[in-house]
Amino acid sequence: MSMHLYQMSTKLLGDTVGKMNDNLTSLVLAASAVMLTFGYFYSKILLRQTSDKNATYPPYIPSSVPFLGHAVAFGKSPIDFLENAYEKYGPVFSFTMVGKTFTYLLGSDAASLLFNSKNEDLNAEDVYSRLTTPVFGKGVAYDVPNPIFLEQKKMLKTGLNVARFREHVKIIEAETVEYFQRWGDSGQKNLFEALSELIILTASSCLHGKDIRGLLDEHVAQLYADLDGGFSHAAWLLPGWLPLPSFRKRDKAHREIKNIFYNVIRKRRSSEEKLDDILQTLMDATYKDGRPLSDDEIAGMLIGLLLAGQHTSSTTSAWLGFFLARDKATQERCYAEQRAVCGDHLPPLHLDQLKDLSLLERCLKETLRLRPPIMTMMRMARSTQTASGFTIPAGHQVCVSPTVNHRLQDTWCERTRFDPDRYLHDNPAAGEKFAYVPFGAGRHRCIGENFAYVQIKTIWSTLLRLYDFDLVDGYFPTINYTTMIHTPHNPIIAYKRRKH
Ligand code: HEM
Repeated sequence: MSMHLYQMSTKLLGDTVGKMNDNLTSLVLAASAVMLTFGYFYSKILLRQTSDKNATYPPYIPSSVPFLGHAVAFGKSPIDFLENAYEKYGPVFSFTMVGKTFTYLLGSDAASLLFNSKNEDLNAEDVYSRLTTPVFGKGVAYDVPNPIFLEQKKMLKTGLNVARFREHVKIIEAETVEYFQRWGDSGQKNLFEALSELIILTASSCLHGKDIRGLLDEHVAQLYADLDGGFSHAAWLLPGWLPLPSFRKRDKAHREIKNIFYNVIRKRRSSEEKLDDILQTLMDATYKDGRPLSDDEIAGMLIGLLLAGQHTSSTTSAWLGFFLARDKATQERCYAEQRAVCGDHLPPLHLDQLKDLSLLERCLKETLRLRPPIMTMMRMARSTQTASGFTIPAGHQVCVSPTVNHRLQDTWCERTRFDPDRYLHDNPAAGEKFAYVPFGAGRHRCIGENFAYVQIKTIWSTLLRLYDFDLVDGYFPTINYTTMIHTPHNPIIAYKRRKH
């Protein structure tokens, strides 16, 4: 639901300006740039005037580039940038990008400030809402005070229960078998693209229910894609009222999808039949004060559910595939585990067996360590904060990076090696509370972890039974940093049908 929102680069500005198609827009953009720049220098002056001489501020990484600051270096390779800064400055440091000051808290100790803080002090809405509200709509998630969002999360969590997961395993296995029929017996294909398409289908079936899944055709898939286009660097950087084509598409898709959902909700209300799915959970749910969710809130939460799990799960599934294709011995062990746990004739999957696929589970856990889809969690400091003895002024964007925590030299042995068995041995990271946080922690923690495990393990159980996977000419995808979630670059995989 949150995303890594801050990868700024000159490319972003170039792309955005390149897409401007009329003079009015260019004028407005120029005015916005002037206002942003003015705001930047004003805040610098203000900061200088209000800084406390007795306070120890985090080390500041200097930059000779005004306004953009470190945006280009960070955008090119954020992990290298942060790891180098950690080496040089320690676990807490600040730097500027696009007129904003970011303070990173790296390592388990420093990160505890963000995970243990109250939302009034380190605030999520201030940084996420401008992206999420146009996509999910008003009245949900970061558009409402956090106590309300916490109630909404609780309702969703009630809907994600073990009884439903039992059904989800069957649905996901069937969708996966059907989807991959088009791959035939052998070949080379784009794994990430396939998994992204598959996961929209499985998530729609499981998280929305069969009546909404039944409406998912190419047109609706395009609406989701347009809506998803709202999670862009441009949406984060530029004022929402700008008449950019991507903003217009996003808003139109939002209206159309909401209308589709309203119709389904209305039909469901007037029908005698009570289906057992998340839509029904939301229709029956009430806030603590007894108020039921409005149709608009339900529709917004359905959009949020789908998109929160879409990129996170499809990226993770794709990386898992490439780790297994590179490490053939582990891939074979995973296949042998399918037969050992489920039976030699590989019958349809079952939730209880899924739990016993412990090697596959560790492979997924290790994938989430090396490629956590949410690279950074971010909050706005609304008041002065203290971390590791440093004073962090109000107005800083305070960040924790799972990616960096998951590979710190002092915490992880052979830190960049894909080693699913590391969790079987003594593991120094186990003693550190926030060394492994792919799903976050504290009040903003993910509610989708169990569903994501069920979904990805079911998909990969099915794929391991179908195919033997290989890298193409030994190429293991590099990381594409230009996307908000770090996707695999050129994600083509080779596959051959297994003979059972
Ligand atoms: C591999 C899959 C996933 C990963 C790695 C992941 C990761 C995360 C992370 C890191 C956060 C914390 C964000 C922050 O603190 O700023 C989060 C929050 C959240 N996620 Fe997930 N997520 C995944 C799948 C899902 C799915 C499938 C759903 C829904 C079914 C979901 C729904 C949510 C929600 C509602 C929040 C709460 C945001 C908040 O309270 O601010 N996620 N997720």
